[in-house]
Amino acid sequence: MKGLFISLEGIEGTGKSTQADLLAVHFRKKGFTVVKTAEPGGTRISLKIRELLLSTDNMNMAPLTELLLYNAARVQHVKEIIMPAIQRGDVVITDRFSDSTMAYQGFGRGIDPKLIDSLDLIATGRLRPHLTILLDVDVATGLRRNRAADKIDRLELEEISFHERVREGFISMAAKEPERIRLVDCSGDIETVHKKVVGLADTFLDGLRT
Ligand code: TMP
Repeated sequence: MKGLFISLEGIEGTGKSTQADLLAVHFRKKGFTVVKTAEPGGTRISLKIRELLLSTDNMNMAPLTELLLYNAARVQHVKEIIMPAIQRGDVVITDRFSDSTMAYQGFGRGIDPKLIDSLDLIATGRLRPHLTILLDVDVATGLRRNRAADKIDRLELEEISFHERVREGFISMAAKEPERIRLVDCSGDIETVHKKVVGLADTFLDGLRT
């Protein structure tokens, strides 16, 4: 494997996509070729699956349907975008990846983590980001930020306790894999958070060079 694979994770309203954009600019300034992408999405087929997943028309979607659709979108994303970019030696920055499935469908919906794990093996061949930046903020602040941005979809309409379980899930996943998943407090402004994110990414790069 030649390239670098970085994911940004977190609950709603943590500013992941803004931070992913800023991190992409940072790496490009350093001379890297960057592929910036997001889940569920990244390809035409995955974006169609995203519409199904997030539409408020589908409030009766079964948890297992949801789990399989996130994985289906990911298979296509890995095959069409992520693996080719890594093999070319690019830096891939994705707004969400497999950790979101464990947090939302595992901790949030209560689906057996063993099932999630075996599907992940099938969908990604256990592809893991080299570095995962977990942006963390309290649920009330996150949801308030999203509502202010008029961003309402099927998952965001879940009750507060669902989002609390997802947040706790992410935090416990970071505690289990502290080397890969680095937690960043994102309660501050965009620039403050960007400095922390860039600090982590640069330290990670330096570690690869030594
Ligand atoms: P976002 O693009 O605004 O982050 O929206 C994606 C939504 O999908 C968000 O609520 C998190 C959710 N999600 C899952 O539940 N499982 C997953 O595997 C992924 C990638 C996202």
